[in-house]
Amino acid sequence: KFEGLAPTPPMGWNSWNTFQVEINEKMIMEMADELVKTGMKDAGYNYLVLDDGWMAMERDSLGNLVPDPKKFPHGLRAVVDYVHAKGLKFGMYNCAGTLTCAKYPGTRGYEYQDARNYAAWNIDYLKYDWCNTKGINAKEAYTTMSNALRKAGHPMIFSICEWGVNKPWEWGEPVGQLWRTTEDIWQVFDSVHSHGTWDALSVMRISDLQDTLRRYAGPDHWNDPDMLEVGNGMTLSEDRTHFSLWAMMAAPLMAGNDIRKMTPQTKEILTNKDVIAIDQDPLGIQGFKFSDKDSLQIWFKPLQKGDWAVCFLNRGSTEKKVSFNWQQTPVVDNIFHHTLDNKGRYTLYNVWSHKNEGTTEKVFNASVKSHDVVMFRLKKG
Ligand code: GLA
Repeated sequence: KFEGLAPTPPMGWNSWNTFQVEINEKMIMEMADELVKTGMKDAGYNYLVLDDGWMAMERDSLGNLVPDPKKFPHGLRAVVDYVHAKGLKFGMYNCAGTLTCAKYPGTRGYEYQDARNYAAWNIDYLKYDWCNTKGINAKEAYTTMSNALRKAGHPMIFSICEWGVNKPWEWGEPVGQLWRTTEDIWQVFDSVHSHGTWDALSVMRISDLQDTLRRYAGPDHWNDPDMLEVGNGMTLSEDRTHFSLWAMMAAPLMAGNDIRKMTPQTKEILTNKDVIAIDQDPLGIQGFKFSDKDSLQIWFKPLQKGDWAVCFLNRGSTEKKVSFNWQQTPVVDNIFHHTLDNKGRYTLYNVWSHKNEGTTEKVFNASVKSHDVVMFRLKKG
């Protein structure tokens, strides 16, 4: 892979969660405009990623992928140039199988040719899916594409979208910058959403599956618990909880809502700089679930310069009281070797209200609303 492209988890916007294959050049260009106008770009969302559905159903006579002429009448390079001119980077999608998940031409057998085309279009990011891959070895298929991208010469983030089926965390680090850890997310907080042949996962279900994987993540090699559903139908507190958890997990932050139409509240969540700073912390440590009792979870994440993030999360359906004695509760990250300084003093900076709310010298007492969080940055001193 190209080294050093993702020192912190990649951020951007992806077309799939809202639009599926209903994408076109006008909409993508509007999205680029809005990423800039809404302040999303300034907040860090710099990759605009076109997901499945951008291609014509057939390759051309030379075997090249062709953008759908109805959706992209001016070709891809024109859209890419437009997006680049906005100071954004451009990402695309294909699949390791013979067909993509939405049944467009897959890359199997065309790895080097497709990589050359992406490089010629100036693509900066490739999301590479795992449908229609019967009989293919995952590690080999992703390594082949990673090598092909390198050979093509244009620096590209390689996003391994293999849903965790072949344990990509065990082989993904030299191959790509991020790997999906689960099946697809759905805009539900804590229930199953069936797609008939497979079940999409709720925000809470996905977060349940990440804890054992944190040892595999770090700068330039991230666990990817899938894209954001903020602004796509959950309640505000659920959206806030989803965003908080993804930040605690140092997850890639790929917005998946229609940012042309987002409400001020959705924008406030997605562009919350204090929460984003926790996600993007240079130490690059994926946080951990410290405790989980009676629907109340407590998550911790070590941050640079001795700071910590802490998130009290109420998974239950009624408001819950929480109490935490900072000076008498040992908090230790056994994998990355950080210990909360029980004797020291931290200021509790609330990253959702943007206010200091006391210090760790006092026992912390609060109530957390249903499906909501209270989240602090513990600032040393
Ligand atoms: C899979 C991926 C999704 C999306 C679709 C496109 O389901 O996991 O993120 O890319 O394919 O068809």
